[in-house]
Amino acid sequence: MAILETESAVRKLTIKIKRYNPERDNAPHWEEFQVEADPLDRVLDVVQNVKWYQDETLALRRSCAHGVCGSDAMRINGVNGLACKILVKNVPSDTITLEPILGLPVIKDLIVDMKPFFDHYKSVMPFLVNDDPAPTTERLQSPSERARFDDTTKCILCACCTTACPPFWGDRKYVGPAAIVNAHRFIFDSRDKGAAERLEILNDAEGVWRCRTVFNCTTACPRDIQVTQAISEVKRALITGEVNYEAAPEVGHGIA
Ligand code: SF4
Ligand code: SF4
Ligand code: FES
Repeated sequence: MAILETESAVRKLTIKIKRYNPERDNAPHWEEFQVEADPLDRVLDVVQNVKWYQDETLALRRSCAHGVCGSDAMRINGVNGLACKILVKNVPSDTITLEPILGLPVIKDLIVDMKPFFDHYKSVMPFLVNDDPAPTTERLQSPSERARFDDTTKCILCACCTTACPPFWGDRKYVGPAAIVNAHRFIFDSRDKGAAERLEILNDAEGVWRCRTVFNCTTACPRDIQVTQAISEVKRALITGEVNYEAAPEVGHGIA
């Protein structure tokens, strides 16, 4: 079968990696490696091949290798993605360029300093706020109320969205789409009581109003979260002063 033959054909790839070692280099530079890869290999397999068999000094993060931990975000042929989720057969070119994600300080090679990213994440109170006395059973929620924020529960904090966002590249104080997604996850949770406080934090020139609705974030998200829509819903809550706790958008409750 022609398709199977194509799928099993080993590909000879040139892997161009942006290297930077602060102990040795004044500036980043490109290095090339030749690798043979199976079409069903992932880009992570290819870059690990380089590290394990050609240059053990290559620095990258990875952990789960299954698109869950979010640690191997990188720019792959100029587009943010998780190296463990992209198959070699889906990369059309025989040259694969790998760079660190943009907008965060590079520590070494493909490793960036995630602290500014997590500082923005922490700034939006990404946890349930409810000081009411704990009920004897769980805090009840209807299926529709649970569905309201289901999409934003899927975030794995990989930073693909924030580091694909042009306003974030230009202004590192911008809280960024990932932080807004994680604020959304709690703002629209009917069990939470911290929506007004979170919305106040995001009602700022460095909050949701820095977003220019370019949609790069949604395209970059490896979890297919509707990031720009989540940002728009937070903007709408700020404009109307209401948070809709049901999946159907017409139903609203005051936020004060
Ligand atoms: S939609 Fe907003 S947050 Fe997303 S990339 Fe564009 S400007 Fe950035
Ligand atoms: S919203 Fe998507 S791209 Fe952004 S940090 Fe979460 S999982 Fe990654
Ligand atoms: S290694 Fe965990 S998401 Fe890729």
